Amino acid sequence: MARLIVRGGEPLRGKVRVNGAKNAVLPMMAAAVLTRSECLIRDVPDIRDVRVMIEILKDLGVKVRLERINGRRYLSLKAEHIRTDAVNARLMKKMRSSVLLIGPLLARLASARMTYPGGCAIGPRPVDMHLAGFEAMGATVVEKGGQVTAYAGRGALSGAEIHLEYPSVGATENLMMAAAGARGVTRIWNPAREPEVDNLAAFLQAMGANITGTGSDVISVEGSDVLGGADCGVIPDRIEAGTYAIAAVITGGEITLENVRTEHLRAFLAKMNEVGTEVQAGRDQLWIKGPERPRAADIRTLPYPGYPTDLQNQYLALSCIAGGTSVITESIFENRFKVAEELARMGASIHTEGRLAVVKGVEQLSGACVEADDDLRGGASLVLAGLRADGATVVRGAEYIDRGYMNLVGRLRGLGADVTRNDD
Ligand code: EPZ
Repeated sequence: MARLIVRGGEPLRGKVRVNGAKNAVLPMMAAAVLTRSECLIRDVPDIRDVRVMIEILKDLGVKVRLERINGRRYLSLKAEHIRTDAVNARLMKKMRSSVLLIGPLLARLASARMTYPGGCAIGPRPVDMHLAGFEAMGATVVEKGGQVTAYAGRGALSGAEIHLEYPSVGATENLMMAAAGARGVTRIWNPAREPEVDNLAAFLQAMGANITGTGSDVISVEGSDVLGGADCGVIPDRIEAGTYAIAAVITGGEITLENVRTEHLRAFLAKMNEVGTEVQAGRDQLWIKGPERPRAADIRTLPYPGYPTDLQNQYLALSCIAGGTSVITESIFENRFKVAEELARMGASIHTEGRLAVVKGVEQLSGACVEADDDLRGGASLVLAGLRADGATVVRGAEYIDRGYMNLVGRLRGLGADVTRNDD
């Protein structure tokens, strides 16, 4: 297990450039399966989940080429020949968001097979809404012995009216991709409104699908059986941006984030203001200056545009040293406070009960040996706590953090942090 050693106490200063969004690039990579033509995705982050998705696509027969042009990473994907309708089971276990391949495979081959994507550290993570949506589009779905097989009767999916009980990000994306290759018009009611959904829609539109309504209460997709190649950029990662912002706030530092879409961070920035942070937002820059000690404030995670669940653990770490008591409500996932036990080993005072965490801010945290679990955001939040703590914090399980953070150590060191990595 790789370990990060963080020696706290240094206010962060300087500039850091935000990468392309993990949760935008993964569905875009899956969407490339919809066409035989070459697709080009720009600003692809070099993170573990992207590497796993590349392995999965290669296993399906997709030709993959990674290029660096003028410092930007381009991913070329060409799914001219798909050799199987089955997502590799071993790789499926590595990354549950490979479920996003089912919609494109179903639209392209009229059949798709996968092992059931297990739950993970943050909850059971079912895919019932994905499967119900495929059935609404005329697919037959058989779940047996941990295997899921879906096939489209009469060789193609048909447009449908789909009502999501909950604005699931993955279900919205999977069904958009299936609908792009279906016959007729599909309307997805109560869809997710996250910016990453909009980025996927732009990619599908570039391929020739006619999609309207992202960000509203219904997304309409007019399918096409002649989807072509696409050349599309990945939006900046709002969660990575928020993570670095909290690194500045928790250390009482002052940093400038570059390549950031501040309009994607409104709920988060409002909360940073509330705890006493100075924020100056530009079109694609964000200046953040943390207070000596943040004030306490409550948060409740919500679907976009509410406060994002993927920035909940990072806020939990910040609230550990706030002046007062903060109540954190996690309304998206069943079990996203696992990191609280590890923060307590550093001297934090957190009481969790189901979806609630009550945090009594302490004057100071102390370095300790802590474990990042199978939630990359929890792992990142332990690093954040270490940046503030007295002494050295050893964070084991850095591989989990690598899933969504490119070169975290190098970029934190660039901001003056004392962080090193042992890959023994
Ligand atoms: C996406 O996961 C993100 N992952 C997650 O980011 C993010 O936390 C989540 O959306 C919420 O914003 C990617 O985009 C790759 P959901 P997803 O479907 O699609 C329940 C990170 O840290 N649900 O919106 O899996 C589900 O159990 C990751 O980058 C069903 O019940 O999220 C959960 O409680 C973590 N049935 C809730 O909905 C379904 O069919 C939200 O899930 C689907 C979901």
